[in-house]
Amino acid sequence: MRIVSGIQPTGNLHLGNYLGAIRNWVRMQDDLAAQGGQSLYFLADLHAISMPHDPAELASNTLEMVAALVACGIDPDRSILFNQAQVPQHAELQWLLNGTARMGWLNRMTQFKDKSGKNREGASVALFTYPVLQAADVLLYQATHVPVGEDQKQHLELARDIAQKFNNDFASEEAPVFTLPDPIIPPEAARIMSLRDGTAKMSKSDPSEMSRINLVDDADTIMKKVKKAKTDPEPLPSEAKGLEGRAEAQNLVGIYAALSGESVDAVLARFGGQGFGVFKPALGELLVEKLAPINTRFVELLQDREALDAILARGAAQAREIGTPTLDATYKALGLVRG
Ligand code: TYM
Repeated sequence: MRIVSGIQPTGNLHLGNYLGAIRNWVRMQDDLAAQGGQSLYFLADLHAISMPHDPAELASNTLEMVAALVACGIDPDRSILFNQAQVPQHAELQWLLNGTARMGWLNRMTQFKDKSGKNREGASVALFTYPVLQAADVLLYQATHVPVGEDQKQHLELARDIAQKFNNDFASEEAPVFTLPDPIIPPEAARIMSLRDGTAKMSKSDPSEMSRINLVDDADTIMKKVKKAKTDPEPLPSEAKGLEGRAEAQNLVGIYAALSGESVDAVLARFGGQGFGVFKPALGELLVEKLAPINTRFVELLQDREALDAILARGAAQAREIGTPTLDATYKALGLVRG
């Protein structure tokens, strides 16, 4: 079993990233270490240049994201932690896969539509071909499983389509070049929504800071954001089905359940019939309790930039070694002569 997943270093790690993906990364790292499998987690800095960006900010965000991931429990001695920019095989494999990916497949990607908005002609080519790089990210390492939030499911399906077509066109059934990866999407926190709008996902690109809880927010900020979170005037129901049609309430209860490790029904058995005046402070306190240790560790790790650089350099060397045989096999399968 080999697990691969990535995150863009485009700003603070938020609660959606944590509950939707990173917490799962940590769990899987721990399980795999016991079973002799391997986990590779990377910062998708090459993906980050698909949108307008500030180079100095990207560089500092990259190091901050390493610190944040380690603070969340990613252990560079048990997982391979690196950034794409130090493993040129990602970009190389993307080019090779561009020959297999179809325009029609990319045209269907909802993220491109969302991120390019009305200005499709002005969007970067990188934003359009982004999912091919994402396919390269996982296929390079023969990933068997990819832990992600719900929003990445379509990209993972595309990676499977690309792998399958490449295997069909250029390899034999007995000796495929690529493994088809399976997404792993957590059932309970696959889609954490904005605190300001229960129909929009919590996202780094939302201009409102009040829409998300960042893992580095201090206790006062967390309490304030939860208090100001949008809700409706009804008290909480006593069963999960009573949350239907109440997107904001559903989101807050879902966050509570994911953090406390309880089911939504168990949370509602306790808070059902109560208003948000009671539930919000309880949620705020739970968030502070769970996030405070991460916050403290993050601040400590940031003091030693050299150590963070060293983590990335070591991880990149390990990743290059694992990825090279697959890249070589891809060149060969395509008939590209390399001496
Ligand atoms: P990114 O950086 O947007 O998010 C990182 C991870 O966090 C999950 N996530 C969420 N989960 C639940 N609720 C939310 N509101 C929420 N917001 C984000 C994402 O699903 C993701 O798992 N394209 C990817 C990065 C990437 C990648 C890859 C992932 C590049 N190559 C290869 C897996 C495999 C992205 O932009 O994720």
